[in-house]
Amino acid sequence: MSSTHTEPAPAKLNLFLHVTGRRDDGYHLLDSLVCFADCGDVITATARDDSELTLAITGPMAGDLGHGNIEDNLILRAARLLRAEGAVTQGADLTLEKNLPVASGIGGGSADAAATLRVLCRVWQLDIPTDALEKLALKLGADVPVCLHGKTVLMQGIGEKLIDLPELPSLSLVLVNPGKAVSTPEIFAARDAGFTDENLWDRTARFQSAATLAAALQDCRNDLTLPASGILPEICDVLNALAREDGCLLARMSGSGATCLAIYDTENQAERAANAIAESQPDWWVQATGIQTMQDRARAQIGASFPT
Ligand code: C5P
Repeated sequence: MSSTHTEPAPAKLNLFLHVTGRRDDGYHLLDSLVCFADCGDVITATARDDSELTLAITGPMAGDLGHGNIEDNLILRAARLLRAEGAVTQGADLTLEKNLPVASGIGGGSADAAATLRVLCRVWQLDIPTDALEKLALKLGADVPVCLHGKTVLMQGIGEKLIDLPELPSLSLVLVNPGKAVSTPEIFAARDAGFTDENLWDRTARFQSAATLAAALQDCRNDLTLPASGILPEICDVLNALAREDGCLLARMSGSGATCLAIYDTENQAERAANAIAESQPDWWVQATGIQTMQDRARAQIGASFPT
């Protein structure tokens, strides 16, 4: 069997994000509907004969990651943690194909860390129980467990409590990032509103269409939009640009921003909106996409990557 494996690291989308409280350690309690796009980064890993761990970064957004110390990259931290947990002596060569904007509210680093845990379990042939892997994931960041799970869920706690939900209808989405990174801790710290009640979302609700899902989502919001747009006003421009295109059912910021998503009534309308926005704002990152379904995940388990 080949010792090279590839794992998709799909973009994480918060269709709503309510801040419901704050723990004594400063972390915020959340209530958030999370699903995964069918675009994202890709992690490849090959086993080494020695104990070295290496990371190479390719892809259109690779340049934006070049500034920090590569040893601090969440991918290498995930690899080191897993190696200790599994008492592995072997190393690995890892490659990140960076397609998603950095520090942008769609999970980039967290999705990469989760995909690293998954791919290295295969490369090193580890059989680590799911709850132990989830604990490792949480050590790497509050969003890493949900990315490890990789399914549509209601995410609660600081990100460790994952409640499965019925499959969502297929969605025609556009993701837009204004090309500026924002700092998650800064945005949580800038929040001065009260807390939203938890459990506002009906966990049993099944939606037959994007329109009925979008209508239910209108009763929810992203509680980080106000502090994030105070720090980066371009977020309001992005939301307005998405909302004014034909067929927009909902436009909302994801995570702590600055990426925003919009749900359109048809795939054609989403494509047209993406083209129009990309043309009028050439410096913005614009991506038309769908969300991952059960069938996509089944295909991914037998080694398929993202549709091109
Ligand atoms: O866990 P992660 O490293 O992704 O979080 C970055 C920062 O965002 C935390 O240090 C914390 O300041 C803030 N945060 C929070 N509540 C969460 C997730 C993140 O306050 N649920």
